[in-house]
Amino acid sequence: MIILKSREEIEKMRKAGMLVARVLEEVAAKVAVGVTTMELDRMAEKMIRDGGALPAFKGYQPDFIKCGPYPATLCTSLNDEVVHGVPDDRPLVEGDLLSIDTGARMDGYFGDAAVSVIVGEGFPEASRLVEVTRQALDEAIEECRPGNRLSDVSAAVQRVAEGAGYNVVRRFVGHGIGASMHEDPPVPNYGSSGAGPLLKPGMVLALEPMVNIGTHEVEASADCWRVVTKDRSLSAHFEHTVAVTEDGPDVLTVVRRRNRWKKR
Ligand code: MF3
Ligand code: CO
Repeated sequence: MIILKSREEIEKMRKAGMLVARVLEEVAAKVAVGVTTMELDRMAEKMIRDGGALPAFKGYQPDFIKCGPYPATLCTSLNDEVVHGVPDDRPLVEGDLLSIDTGARMDGYFGDAAVSVIVGEGFPEASRLVEVTRQALDEAIEECRPGNRLSDVSAAVQRVAEGAGYNVVRRFVGHGIGASMHEDPPVPNYGSSGAGPLLKPGMVLALEPMVNIGTHEVEASADCWRVVTKDRSLSAHFEHTVAVTEDGPDVLTVVRRRNRWKKR
């Protein structure tokens, strides 16, 4: 069942979303050769708690993953890691592709977002993957308007990613979000347009394209949480929490409120 949110609820989600956006901005700015993902995690947890919220991922245990509660505030997924990379004490090295995902619960509502960054200069192919994945999310956001159907959002991601010669992960999807981190509907990153539920004002979706240079197939790593590409090719991930409104998409996980979502 898709739960529609009132304006008041959307404003609460915006508060959580803005905090998540600030955390990601500051954490991404800290990314450099020699920094560890554990340091980034500590910084994120402090910012979220100081901001009057709780880390949404820490202690989280979805029933589809049998790994014990998630141990950290951030998911830090490096290179061939797709999602759910667990922060550790390995220093980042030049050229690493790091996806940073975090969520916060504030006043009963969730915000969830992710960015991918490259450590230092990096390889052109890694930068292109990151830019294509960001673009896929931007185009998907554009589709979040009343009258469209859910698969218009999914199709936009697939069109951009496959148009660039990459592949979208199928095993993991975006999701509705609100007073729970994961609500209906699941939001796949592939599919033909014109299908699925009609988008209505008050729907709030966490759109999260995961794009691989190689195969779309993924596998769980030996240490359980970390998900890697089957062929060990690079993977990038971006995510925003987006409300569907009469005026079009309203991206809640931005540092400053925007009246109208604009593609970069
Ligand atoms: N953005 C991810 C999601 O929506 C984060 C969940 S990670 C977990 O599923 F660690 F909390 F499981
Ligand atoms: Co999410």
